Amino acid sequence: MASATPEANSTASPETIEVKPLTIHIGAEIDGADLTQPLPEQTLREIRDAFLQWKVVFFKGQDLDHEQHVDFARQLGEPTIGHAVFGHIDGYPEIYSIAKHRWDARYKPAPKLIKPWTGWHADITAAINPPAVSILRGVEIPPYGGDTFWTNLAVAYDGLSETLRGFVDGLRGLHVFEPPKEIETTEEYEEQREVRRMASEHPIVRVHPETGERVLYISPSYLRSIVGLAPRESEQLLELLWEHAIRPEYTLRYKWEPGDLAMWDNRAVIHCAPRDIFEVEADRQLYRITLIGDVPVGVDGKPSTSIEGDPIAAI
Ligand code: SIN
Repeated sequence: MASATPEANSTASPETIEVKPLTIHIGAEIDGADLTQPLPEQTLREIRDAFLQWKVVFFKGQDLDHEQHVDFARQLGEPTIGHAVFGHIDGYPEIYSIAKHRWDARYKPAPKLIKPWTGWHADITAAINPPAVSILRGVEIPPYGGDTFWTNLAVAYDGLSETLRGFVDGLRGLHVFEPPKEIETTEEYEEQREVRRMASEHPIVRVHPETGERVLYISPSYLRSIVGLAPRESEQLLELLWEHAIRPEYTLRYKWEPGDLAMWDNRAVIHCAPRDIFEVEADRQLYRITLIGDVPVGVDGKPSTSIEGDPIAAI
């Protein structure tokens, strides 16, 4: 098994970019690449290496427009539809709008704090082939607040006791596209969801297809239960794993500035969008592109299975 410690995975030092780690376990800033231009092969390779090592990388002050965002994404992989259920912005099928008030049309007002892990997710893990990479671009950013969080699920896996690792290695989980049961949805949401129902069974421990790391594949927004456990056993074990996975030492909190771009590995992290922005007037607008992913594979070599819905397609 490959180690989840970033230093242990590092390859030769990059020559065309500078990689500045932001924490011990997750996140690095990349300097020296102008994302408005097509990038040389070597730079793309070095960006890919840093991305695999640090799980989420940030490019500051890029100020890309929609066209440049798509062009950059296409150098790294094949984009999917902006969002498999909620669609895309006009004229750009690859781009999903992360607007401050996008949830108003979907959810009725809910209690403020539900669970500590509420809102943490990897993108669309209800699909049989969840997006591998997300590329998020900040355009309108509040002067303070509105930070995004990520956590490294390979390090979180390594942080479990050997005995528990051995147990979870053999488990599988049911991921469904539906809101948490505490939240009431709008009719509009139900109509959109009805045309794109999705559920899949994924391994609880996924082997990363590029690094070989074992990763706790436990996206709280979609993972509903552990297959083969009694409901109470499943609930307690999932809560233990989620609580563990978002320990501060595995996480990064990023303060955005307009023009920043974040790129993360949905196969190895979960992230959490901010909620504090709803307490202030300031607007917040970001745009996201996701790149096609493969079907996860467990420690036993067994791939995920689809329960409902089509695979996400490249466009
Ligand atoms: C997302 O979930 O992709 C958006 C994250 C954010 O709004 O910071």
